Amino acid sequence: MSFYGVPEGRRVTMRDLAEATRRGEKWPMITAYDALTAKIFDEAGIPALLVGDSAAMVVYGHDSTLPVTVDELIPLVRAVVRGSSRALVIADLPFGSYQSSPAQALDTAAAFMKQGGAHAVKLEGGAPMLPQVEALANAGVPVIGHLGLTPQSVNLLGGYRVQGRGEAGEMLMRDAKAMEAAGACAVVLEVVPAELAARVSEVLTIPTIGIGAGGGTDAQVNVWQDMVGLTEGPAPRFVKKYADVRSVIAEAAAQWSADVTSGAYPTEEHEYR
Ligand code: KIV
Repeated sequence: MSFYGVPEGRRVTMRDLAEATRRGEKWPMITAYDALTAKIFDEAGIPALLVGDSAAMVVYGHDSTLPVTVDELIPLVRAVVRGSSRALVIADLPFGSYQSSPAQALDTAAAFMKQGGAHAVKLEGGAPMLPQVEALANAGVPVIGHLGLTPQSVNLLGGYRVQGRGEAGEMLMRDAKAMEAAGACAVVLEVVPAELAARVSEVLTIPTIGIGAGGGTDAQVNVWQDMVGLTEGPAPRFVKKYADVRSVIAEAAAQWSADVTSGAYPTEEHEYR
């Protein structure tokens, strides 16, 4: 399997992905939170795995990303690194673990890299986070910015709504340029108008990674449970459902449960002699 021109036996780096973008190749990034699915995505040729703070919701069952902690995310990062062999593994810095100061951001990133084995980190926010981005980049940490709908600020934004419409779009453009100048190696653009995301992607030389930002970004990221139809309830407009895994699991569970109750499982073929 071709892995973005990366020789057998080594992982993809942020530099490889930047080169793919320079060649005009679009690339996918997907979330992962455990070794088993990390291996599936790695073998499918996905070059970047994000251990998102979305784990707060899809792993830990919270109703926002705010409660998840560094200590809860590090074991997931370690599992994803163990489960994969080619993909770049990115750790999301959770709410409250980097906003206080550049030093706090560096300590948290170091924990994810030393204890979790992460190869890069991601943080949310615009201009106020530039000192953090600069400190991480200066310390040799590949850092991805995240603009637009930043779920850690949901209380300030007043909900999960489209960002960057009208004049706010120009502020986002300024933030994106400033992120690149501060040393960010890529920028996630979440739930912003497609036209704005395309313009930002034209202007920046670093890759833009869209989620709900249209087809004009250099890369796309999705939460895997959304993409395969495991997440409950109506999905946001930007989600394309590639499978109905929720129904598959529900039907299997109901059938197994009925078989146990009726005695149809296990049978002789499942017994040891
Ligand atoms: O936490 C997450 O999964 C994310 C992606 C949606 C970009 O930040």
